[in-house]
Amino acid sequence: MNVTFRQLKVFAAVARHLSYTKAAKELHLSQPAVSMQIKQLEDSAGIDLFEQIGKKTYLTEAGREMFHYSKKIAQHLVEIEEVLAQLKGVSRGHLSIAVASTANYFATRLLAAFAKSHEGVSFSLDVTNRESLLHQLEHNECDLVIMGQPPEGVELVTEAFMDNPLVVIAPPDHPLVGVEKVSMKRLQEETFVIRESGSGTRIAMSRFFDEKGFQLKTGMEMTSNEAIKQAVEAGLGLGIVSVHTLALELEVNHLVVLNVAKFPILRHWYVVHRRGKRLSPVAEAFRQFVLGQAKEVLQSLVQR
Ligand code: PGA
Repeated sequence: MNVTFRQLKVFAAVARHLSYTKAAKELHLSQPAVSMQIKQLEDSAGIDLFEQIGKKTYLTEAGREMFHYSKKIAQHLVEIEEVLAQLKGVSRGHLSIAVASTANYFATRLLAAFAKSHEGVSFSLDVTNRESLLHQLEHNECDLVIMGQPPEGVELVTEAFMDNPLVVIAPPDHPLVGVEKVSMKRLQEETFVIRESGSGTRIAMSRFFDEKGFQLKTGMEMTSNEAIKQAVEAGLGLGIVSVHTLALELEVNHLVVLNVAKFPILRHWYVVHRRGKRLSPVAEAFRQFVLGQAKEVLQSLVQR
């Protein structure tokens, strides 16, 4: 059967109105044009679809079947259009992400994995501190934020997608390396190299020791995880960092994670946006991707 969508559309209009005149009017066609389409459809189907009794037009049994299926086909066409519109939405466009400096150890991998299935999408990634992240959320300056410490009292949608354990690091020749369950009390004798105020890591660390009633001896303050790691390697003190910053140093044995009682400090990574913000199709796709697949994509990093 050689049927065109146009014939089906004309057929459906006649079947709905049971009138060639009304169908012609609806479709902005002449009545002979409508009759011609129906004639071609009937010829192709090899059976009459309408019958004329007196002045009235009726569907034949074959016509009723054809009407039933033509409605289904029309529905499918609408669905195809919707699916294609969605695909167009997420295969193009721009995604603007802002992440906490510690999250940058895995954010680029996430973007790379997402980009593989979204070739037409361009990205911008702002790696910045917590204060700036909060500012961007408040002023709607980026699509999504990845951070470890969503603030309370701000209208945000925050969804945890991965653990973020904080550990104590030392150089390999430190006397506490290899000691089973170093006590918090013993830790107080050490000097710590710490992150800048405003860093999520620093906030979590201070809260943890305050809650446990311990005070850390702090030495130098540094604005990046890289600087902290270098300083610890150089023997300037112990450090507390997210395990996600450590893959390489542990592998080549430049740093060691100490076995400390009550550690690691358990935290999570969150994907965050302002409540009520209308996410673009690309941003929504990335959010879903992070929530559903980030752990898997980053498995090797997480296992270390
Ligand atoms: P940060 O990390 O210490 O680099 O700000 C974010 C967080 O852990 O909250």
